[in-house]
Order: sequence, then structure tokens, then C-alpha cells
Amino acid sequence: MGKDNTLILGIETSCDETAAAVVENGKDVLANLLYSQEKIHGRFGGVVPELACRQHVSVISEVVYGVLSRAKVNLQDLSAVAVTQGPGLMGALLVGVSYAKALAYRNHLPLIGVNHLEGHIAAVHLEKADVVLPAVALVVSGGHTNLYYVPARGPLRLLGRTIDDAAGEAFDKGAKLLGLPFPGGPAIDRASGTGDPRAVDFPRPYLKQANLDMSFSGLKTALRYYLERTGVPKDNGAGISDVAASYQQAIIDVLIGKIILGANRYRVQSVFVTGGVAANSALRRQLADHSAKHNLRLIIPEPALCTDNGAMIAAAGFFRMKDRSGSLLTVSPEASLPMGDHGFTGNGSLREGRR
Ligand code: KG4
Ligand code: ZN
Repeated sequence: MGKDNTLILGIETSCDETAAAVVENGKDVLANLLYSQEKIHGRFGGVVPELACRQHVSVISEVVYGVLSRAKVNLQDLSAVAVTQGPGLMGALLVGVSYAKALAYRNHLPLIGVNHLEGHIAAVHLEKADVVLPAVALVVSGGHTNLYYVPARGPLRLLGRTIDDAAGEAFDKGAKLLGLPFPGGPAIDRASGTGDPRAVDFPRPYLKQANLDMSFSGLKTALRYYLERTGVPKDNGAGISDVAASYQQAIIDVLIGKIILGANRYRVQSVFVTGGVAANSALRRQLADHSAKHNLRLIIPEPALCTDNGAMIAAAGFFRMKDRSGSLLTVSPEASLPMGDHGFTGNGSLREGRR
């Protein structure tokens, strides 16, 4: 690697993955390491914040030093450290931010606070595809379902979002009702297998409405009522795969409907879909078909770059550094960090004490 190249270490600990990566020039992933806590939280059917923090604390050094050695990069070679500042679980964010801050300070490196959602969108730069702007981007994860306008320059604009549960939450809660393991998204994806997506007619909330908002909590309730009427299919065969595939299809129809509506309304030729739910195999297949039909250029990062990872944080850090909107050692974790906000956002007032 030449001296002009920008090497960024990205660290992500906003939820239940301890992740780090080294990315060159915002697009080439030199190494990408992730410690998943899935098994730990699986027993409880959801992420337990205190357990997530403890786990981050115990593995973060191993993950960070492990990724540096896999990338064959020394700390002195780095141009900056980027870390997820929020949104996410406060205690979990605190582990990553404190660690990154100490590492940056000790090694005289700039520290860049990255918004987790901006990170998901930046993952499109890690695919070997031309990123054409403007675009409409859907970030669809366990905590968010947000549709953005991504201009060629300037800040992202929120076009629509879920008014209640995120799509990933609908997958996770639906899986629980179906007796499938945590995390629910991959479990429903697998269970849907050869199931018939038209077997059960679940509602498509908000699909017919002209705005770009979405809603998924009614769908989960519809599944609950359906299962109360018919009973949870006990076998792992046709019964459960039909119900899972139908439930999954209702979510997919809403997501695809809103992306296409957004792309047409804002006259863009590019659409990006990222976040954990974008790893869904049926969604990926159907998005490819719909985008081709509407002449849209689609970028969905590969599944491992859709779910939480350190590479997307390093990529987002690269672009923040380029436009000099990166922050320094004043970065502090923020559980509800708004997009584009990287300043002091305490609610109290800053006052000088008596001397
Ligand atoms: O982006 P992510 O890894 O973490 C958050 O920022 O939330 O997304 C996690 C979400 C979970 O709700 C999980 O069930 C869902 O993404 N997910 C999937 C799939 N893989 C992960 N949903 C549907 N199909 C999948 N294959
Ligand atoms: Zn995420």
C-alpha cells in the first residue's frame, strides 16, 4: 500500500456484535473481524444489554488486535480510528467509544465518530460497483426502517420510516411466535425455504398509502391472531414454511413497494438497500427483479456487510474524514444520535463552577 492511501480502523459495538475492520480508501476491506454474541442472547430470545456490554469488554482487544494483524497493519500505519457513536445501546456504545478514544489518543490518531445508520449506507462503497448518486437508500435493521434520499452532495434526507416496529423487529417477534430461534430474521429466512408465500394472506400495512412511511406492528398482531386460530404448526415441514414464507412476503412487499415509490417520486436511478434485513435471501432476489423492471441500479452489500460490521464504520469514517466533518477526542456515545449530528448534545446547560 502506498503512502497516499488512507487506512481506517473501524470499530462497531452498538448492539450485540463486537466488530472491527481495516479499510483502505473507504472501499477496500483489508480485514474484517466479528465476534458474534448470538449464542449468549439466544437463550433469552433477545439482546440483554448488560450481557452485551460485558461481552464487548471481554473481547474488544482481541477483535481489534486480531483485525490489525490479519490486515498486516501496524497502529502507526493507520490514518484514523472510526467508531460507532450511536444510535445503539448506551453501555455497548460506551465500550467501543472508550476503547477507540484510548487507542487514538495513545497513537496520536484522529478519532472519527460515526452514525451507525450512515455506516450501513456507507457499506455500498465496499461492493465493487459504481456508486451513482443521487439515490434512494433503505436502511432496514433490527432497530430502524428508514428511507433516505442520498444527494450527490450534502446531508441525507429522511423520506419515510416505520411509525412503529422496525422490519427486523417484525422478523424477530414473528419468529418468536412461530417458535423459531433468535435472531428471528435468519430463522424465518431459512424456515421459508420452499414455503408458499401466498398460503396465508397477511396484511401489507401502509402499502397502499401514498406516503413513504411504513408500519409493521399490525402484521405481528395478525400473525398472533392467525396462530391463536390455527395453532403453531408443530412440524418443521410444509406447515411452518408456508406461514413463515407468507409472513416474510408481507414484509418484503411493503419494503419493495416503498423503495420503488421513493425512487420514482424522487426520480433517481439508483437504489441502495442495507442493514441486517437486507441479508434476507428472498428480499434480495425480489429486489433484483423489481429494480431491473424499473431500470434502477441496485446495490445491496453482500449479506455479511449488511448486518452489523466494522468495515461499514471504517468506510463511513473515510467519507467523514474527507469532508472534514469528523470529530476528535470529544466524541461521546449517544444512544439516540440523530443523523448528521456529532456535537455536544447534552440536555443540561454547561456552566462554570465557583472558584
Ligand atoms: O443491522 P443489524 O445487524 O443490527 C441492527 O442494527 O439492528 O440487523 C439485525 C436485524 C435483526 O432483526 C435480524 O433478525 C435481521 O436484521 N436479519 C434478517 C436476516 N439476517 C438478519 N432479517 C431477515 N432475513 C435475514 N436473513
Ligand atoms: Zn445495524
